[in-house]
Amino acid sequence: MGIRPLMFVEREASVGEPTSQERRHAEQNDKRILGNVVQCDGARATISAYADDIEGAITGLWTVGKMISINLGSTRTVGLVYEIGKSDRAWSNEGQNPIEVSIELIGEVRDATEPGAKPVFDRGITTYPHIGAIAHRIRSRDLQAVYDLAGRHSITIGTLSQDEAIDANIAIDDTLARHFAIVGTTGVGKSTAVSLLLRKSIAARPDLRILILDPHNEFAASLPEHCVRVDSKTLDLPFWMFRLEEFAEVLFRGRETVAEEVDALRDLIPAAKNLYRNPGSGTYLRRGSDALTADTPVPYRIADLIKQIDERIGMLESKNDRPILKSLKTRIESAASDPRYRFMFNSRLIEDTIHETIGNIFRVPHHGRPVTCFEMAGMPSEVVNSVCSVLARLAFDLALWSDGKLQLLLLCEEAHRYMPADPRLGFAPTRHALSRIAKEGRKYGCYLGVVTQRPGELDPTILSQCSTFFAMRLANEQDQAIIRSAIADSSASTLAFLSSMGQREAIAFGEGVATTMRLKFEKLPQDLIPGTGKREQASSSETGDDVDLAAIVERLRNVPKPQQQMAFAEVVDSGRQAGDPDYRKPATTTPRMQPDDDFDLRYGLKPSTFGLRPQND
Ligand SMILES: Nc1ncnc2c1ncn2[C@@H]1O[C@H](COP(=O)(O)OP(=O)(O)OP(=O)(O)O)[C@@H](O)[C@H]1O
Ligand SMILES: [Mg+2]
Repeated sequence: MGIRPLMFVEREASVGEPTSQERRHAEQNDKRILGNVVQCDGARATISAYADDIEGAITGLWTVGKMISINLGSTRTVGLVYEIGKSDRAWSNEGQNPIEVSIELIGEVRDATEPGAKPVFDRGITTYPHIGAIAHRIRSRDLQAVYDLAGRHSITIGTLSQDEAIDANIAIDDTLARHFAIVGTTGVGKSTAVSLLLRKSIAARPDLRILILDPHNEFAASLPEHCVRVDSKTLDLPFWMFRLEEFAEVLFRGRETVAEEVDALRDLIPAAKNLYRNPGSGTYLRRGSDALTADTPVPYRIADLIKQIDERIGMLESKNDRPILKSLKTRIESAASDPRYRFMFNSRLIEDTIHETIGNIFRVPHHGRPVTCFEMAGMPSEVVNSVCSVLARLAFDLALWSDGKLQLLLLCEEAHRYMPADPRLGFAPTRHALSRIAKEGRKYGCYLGVVTQRPGELDPTILSQCSTFFAMRLANEQDQAIIRSAIADSSASTLAFLSSMGQREAIAFGEGVATTMRLKFEKLPQDLIPGTGKREQASSSETGDDVDLAAIVERLRNVPKPQQQMAFAEVVDSGRQAGDPDYRKPATTTPRMQPDDDFDLRYGLKPSTFGLRPQND
């Protein structure tokens, strides 16, 4: 039964009887011929063609989003199908169905002059298609030429959507150096794409250091062999490394600051710094080229700061300032004793740990793990704000003062959170530090990777500094408009597909690719997809009744139970996900757990190691 049609097909093929389509184009013996140009303007053209039966091979080739080529003798014009239709909007099962295909002209492919060399693609059109010119299915070689990176250092991140046999390559150096953005609605695969991109980047650029600002604690599981994790428990970022406004953000818990209190701090912090450096000098402040400011990252003691405030309260002339100073004192004391800020105020002995801190976070030396996942889930937002600001600032300064020896990528997942479009939202110093990287980072080897679900809510100056975009599915009209405005070349109609793209699919455009490219990211194995560990843990509980509420409440409070105090280091470690055998606690964890021990100075790093200017002498 089932054999007969097969035999029929075979006979038809072997004997070479023409199919209905071939009969129609009897005079055109090239099987790739699709139709003929009937209209053309400066950027677009219309092709008249015939659709045969519904499953016909030719009908299938005319679909929106495909590239085709128009043969003009010495050159072939490449076009992208953005619309197809039948002018009478009626379909007949008998006979021919004339259709109209609208294409956007992308560029031209020219055969190389030397025999055997690859064809060359040029954006822009020198010869426009004439009426009647024949449109083809594009050849693979031509398609490869369209996306050819002309010898630039490239990595393969997937395949073309149009032809899965062709690799999708991006120029990695340009993508990194001129900043990139990945945008798309939730669940389309942004984080997975990031983790794929980072994997490939590390392989291609072993000198690269990466800091991921990870708001959902999901990347460590996807880069297990490349990363170390830093969270609020293992972070060690002393308060004296914060600038005045960052410190104020923490003290005022993200609310409006009181100008008088900040002014008082601006006077008192340098005095405290001076007192720490020259214990005998009293509060005498040096003025001159080596004067300390509230922003200079040199150590001081909170106790000294409080002492300064107390002294000032006691002074007769500050009678009017007393309420301000008192409130400031309370603020400082409550922040310093808040367990959520332990990472700032933990060390009993304030030591100049800046080298250690920087080396730890920015992986100098990297010991084979060039990625740091800074896990922010569960951190209070004002802490996230100031810490992101400090880290972004440090990243830039580190790249700057290393004279290009350090190449740093700062990857901002959910970037709209700390770089919102609305200037009243977000935290000005973070925005400032990140836009500094966006604007000047390229020159010093500090790069930005921006990931967001809502490009419309992201600061437009940051987005405009990103030169390579990976636009995944975007449903929101406003978001689509923003991406459309970012794309400069003629292939803007590719973006019409933004709302309908599949999982793992993206449209890549900008510096990192030769021509706007619709691609499908490589499939990553399940265990390397960001956030998998957490989801697996969650799905192992069927009813959700085995949730340990006591543990959750403890995490909410962020205070260990008193009897666990001494064993806290172990508690922290046992909380880490399995499958992370190489995880090493950052060296600075220990002193915090045993506050009475002498601080172990592990200065593996000299300031000169990475060209940092020692700022305190
Ligand atoms: N390259 C890929 N290989 C395999 N699976 C993928 C890939 N990309 C996406 N997926 C699937 O899609 C799911 C969602 O991906 P992902 O978490 O990366 O989306 P997202 O865009 O980051 O979402 P959100 O905005 O909510 O963070 C993954 O759990 C995975 O199952
Ligand atoms: Mg994600």
